[in-house]
Amino acid sequence: MSFFRGPILAVAERPTVRNFVSSNRLMSGLVDRFVAGEDLETALDLVQPLTEHGITFTLDELGENVSTTAEAEAAVASYIHILNRASERGVEPNISIKLTMLGLDLGEDLTRANVEPILETAKAVGGFVRIDMEGSAYTQQTLDVFTEFHDRYPEQVGIVLQTCLRRTEADIEAMIERRARVRLVKGAYAEPDAVAYQEKASVDAQYLKLMKRLLKDGNYPAIATHDPALIAAAREFAAKNEVANEAWEFQMLYGVRRDEQLALREAGYGMRVYVPYGPSWYPYFTRRIAERPANAFFVLRQFVSK
Ligand code: FDA
Repeated sequence: MSFFRGPILAVAERPTVRNFVSSNRLMSGLVDRFVAGEDLETALDLVQPLTEHGITFTLDELGENVSTTAEAEAAVASYIHILNRASERGVEPNISIKLTMLGLDLGEDLTRANVEPILETAKAVGGFVRIDMEGSAYTQQTLDVFTEFHDRYPEQVGIVLQTCLRRTEADIEAMIERRARVRLVKGAYAEPDAVAYQEKASVDAQYLKLMKRLLKDGNYPAIATHDPALIAAAREFAAKNEVANEAWEFQMLYGVRRDEQLALREAGYGMRVYVPYGPSWYPYFTRRIAERPANAFFVLRQFVSK
């Protein structure tokens, strides 16, 4: 989490900045670092060699809120295609989905109707579907939809919880209780003080505490962070408490700390890389840039010198 996140995300919304980043040749190198191409086959080509190192993946077709049922239906078809195609190409069919892409702004019933065939496909191909967590305006709805489907597809669906949110401690207990698979993250969205811790130290302290809860009593938790201190703490806690490496995994984003991804895998830990791809990469890309002032300054330098 960076202190500059809010302002950077606000600037990134401006059409001039968006046009500049989307069309500037120098920017494309930075975009390629975080986004695995514009289509599924390119993404699969990029990740397949890494499977030889024992690294696993979750595929994310980038996109955000849809405003028509036709767009939501297109997202359903696309998610189903990813599961089938990954399976055909010998890559574990594991995807991350966003409920706003499946119509959450248009209603929970429509979203439920759209999630169902994706989970049916996952069941048919032995795959897994992780429901990403979006901004706090969607947290309760996302959890409501998740719990309903988790009752019916316990092996196929998992959730994400964000340690920046004040409510997450209680949500973790509820997820432990129902044996749900949780990916623990710090949280990528700018959130108001009423619902979220604002200090990095508080978000990190919550991460440490909730990570330990999950490692001790959770169901195959995913410790999704690039933070060296938290990674070291996870390793130490797991070793001290005899939590087997097979009982949990690390997760990191495509393009972030690649050497560490390999090193952790070589040290015997599960490592799943989140692989985003697709033409609608801009909002995802700006969230990654906002996490790292060095990247944001690079973009800014190109922008002012254009
Ligand atoms: P932090 O941001 O404190 O970074 C720690 C260190 O990691 C930095 O000092 C730097 O060295 C390195 N680092 C981090 N980000 C970097 C970057 N972009 N470029 C280069 N180095 C970087 N969020 C959410 O709200 N909903 C979700 O569903 C998900 N899903 C998700 C899946 C997976 C697999 C991961 C790893 C992350 C998410 N996130 C997410 C994003 C998450 O909330 C968070 O914003 C980022 O992981 C960055 O936080 P860190 O825990 O890495 O710590």
